Amino acid sequence: MLLTSLPSSFKNRRDALMKKPEESGSAFLFPAAKEVLRNPDVTYPFRQESNFQYLSGFEEPEAWLLLAPGSKGGAYRTILFVRHRDPVMEIWEGERYGTEGALKVFGVDEAYTIDEFSKRFPEFLKGVDRLFYRMNLDESDDREVLGALEKFRRSQGRSGKPLLAISDPNELIAEMRLFKSSEEIELMRRACDITAKTHLALMKEVRPGMNEYEMEAFIDYQFRKQGSPRVGYGSIVAGGKNACCLHYRANNEVLKDGDLILVDAGAEFGYYTSDITRTFPVGKEFSKTQAAIYDLVLKSQLECIAMAKPGATMAAIHRHASEVLVEGALSLGLMKGKVDEIITSGKVKQFYPHGTGHWLGMDVHDIGLYQLNGEPRKLEAGMMFTIEPGFYVQPDDLHAPAEYRGIGVRIEDDVLVTKTGLEVMTAGAPKARAEIEALKS
Ligand code: GLY
Ligand code: MN
Ligand code: MN
Repeated sequence: MLLTSLPSSFKNRRDALMKKPEESGSAFLFPAAKEVLRNPDVTYPFRQESNFQYLSGFEEPEAWLLLAPGSKGGAYRTILFVRHRDPVMEIWEGERYGTEGALKVFGVDEAYTIDEFSKRFPEFLKGVDRLFYRMNLDESDDREVLGALEKFRRSQGRSGKPLLAISDPNELIAEMRLFKSSEEIELMRRACDITAKTHLALMKEVRPGMNEYEMEAFIDYQFRKQGSPRVGYGSIVAGGKNACCLHYRANNEVLKDGDLILVDAGAEFGYYTSDITRTFPVGKEFSKTQAAIYDLVLKSQLECIAMAKPGATMAAIHRHASEVLVEGALSLGLMKGKVDEIITSGKVKQFYPHGTGHWLGMDVHDIGLYQLNGEPRKLEAGMMFTIEPGFYVQPDDLHAPAEYRGIGVRIEDDVLVTKTGLEVMTAGAPKARAEIEALKS
């Protein structure tokens, strides 16, 4: 179904980007996501590229968004290049906005069909001293853009000028996307709420003998039923030792009584994704060794959450998670040595091979700098990120006592930094061991 109007936030974001004083004289160019073939004439489901969506709200493929300086230093102009209307294709694939819809619904200043791009784009470069465009994502886009820049240079006659400078826009957009507006927070809240409810429902649903793919289907169904159009990333449904494979995606083994199941799944809502992991028994309860590892991961996660507030850093949080996990490994007899040496030498990666969190937003691993001026970046209100320590004893780790081998636990929540502290947006998914076991009894 086509939209008839769009919230003002998309234009406000373009305004904010083009108002940055250092960007006067700059043009910004963003390609839409590509349709990718999975069979000779069948495509993978389409999802718009996040920066393109963030600035335009326009969800079709084969489009360019151009923000160009206005003439004589006036306001900038927004131009969309879009697919043309095509009655035959629209019978097969659905309605398109065309240039008319682009102007009417998306509030752009000018709209052209995509086949006009190579002719018109160079014309918008007059007076531009820098083009923000992300190279190396798609070769044919790069060729098109470089061709247009060359065409523009030649159109200047013997000016002696070099090709227009190209800069990556990601850092500027990342600084905007990193700080969530109240509207974005509401979308994140919905994504987190849908996801937390699904993890809760899943804990009650799982039984020995079910297959991992049944659980993946259950997640998809719960997400869709609650209004999420798709997952934010491929769900990880990992029974037993499969949990030790960090991005396990096969999801095709039978779940066994006595094993744990690690589920890392997040719903997308309004182009914002949640990212929750819970680990719980396939059967009714945790074994003693599973409980020991689980309690250790939960302790580190709770302490990291308590640390996270304005002024703290992700680096310090990661260091703390590593310390708690290594202290635990030492006391369980899984490691030998000194905490500091195990962390600084990297030996900690034997059991804890990943980071403790990442920015979260339109992309699961959202854009945003983790360091500023060579220092870990301080957390500020409006940032969203994950806190997700884990502990994995590889099934073939012959140094570990047999009863620990193949246990993998990760506990992941999504948090919003507020002015005074932190809000855990995914608290609806239980993680206290007693609470989980009570659900399953
Ligand atoms: N779901 C991928 C991650 O947790 O980073
Ligand atoms: Mn994550
Ligand atoms: Mn995750």
